Amino acid sequence: MDVRIFKTEEEIGAAAGKMFCDFVNSKPDCVLGFATGATPVPTYSYMADQCDKGNVTFKDVKTFNLDEYCDLPKEHKNSFYMFMYDNLFSKVDLKPENIDFLDGNTDPEAESARYAASIEAKGGIDIQLLGIGRNGHIAFNEPADEFSGEAYKIKLTDSTIEANSIYFDDIAMPRYAMTMGIGSIMKAKKIIFIATGASKAQAVHDMIKGEVTPKCPASILQNHADVTVFLDEAAASML
Ligand code: F6R
Repeated sequence: MDVRIFKTEEEIGAAAGKMFCDFVNSKPDCVLGFATGATPVPTYSYMADQCDKGNVTFKDVKTFNLDEYCDLPKEHKNSFYMFMYDNLFSKVDLKPENIDFLDGNTDPEAESARYAASIEAKGGIDIQLLGIGRNGHIAFNEPADEFSGEAYKIKLTDSTIEANSIYFDDIAMPRYAMTMGIGSIMKAKKIIFIATGASKAQAVHDMIKGEVTPKCPASILQNHADVTVFLDEAAASML
């Protein structure tokens, strides 16, 4: 893993965002995989700003996202689709028909097969962006007894519910989500991984220095050939 340590979230956003923009400029019809959460917001801001300045265009880019809540309308303000719409999709020139998202309100098995076929039909994900949960989860692959394969429906852990329920002020946070599996994430040709803050330090340590185990799902990234890790000093403090 290529580990890079920065002082601020903004510096990470600029560095990771530049990596995405440079890649899009080299392959304008590439396939990008995105993540939600607080961590990638500065990266999306950088990309939107570069698009606004005419330094990059996303008009032929295709996108997928890692996960989506179940039992929550796509238009609800806390859906991951709306998060992406607010932070990136509405700010760049991506075409709506080039944006694919897991549907958390349909049959999970059929949706998993549809998503895998859609990724495959577009040539696979060129760069997948990842964050990490305090418990080592990537996407919503929570600590488990074995690594998952393609997308599936998962019951969220108490730790994840506690971390994300701060965003839900009108309804209870959903207990289930559809998530890309570890197998589908590992198929991405390149991974850009970002973690910031002391609350991620233990998970980052276990991911990079620990054994490869489904108890820390992110540790599987040790087996991926092309991972660039962007950390701030707090997230890197246990390395
Ligand atoms: C969301 C996702 C999650 C988050 C993780 C960290 O699409 O994939 O694994 O990356 O929960 O979330 P933040 O960035 O809010 O700390």
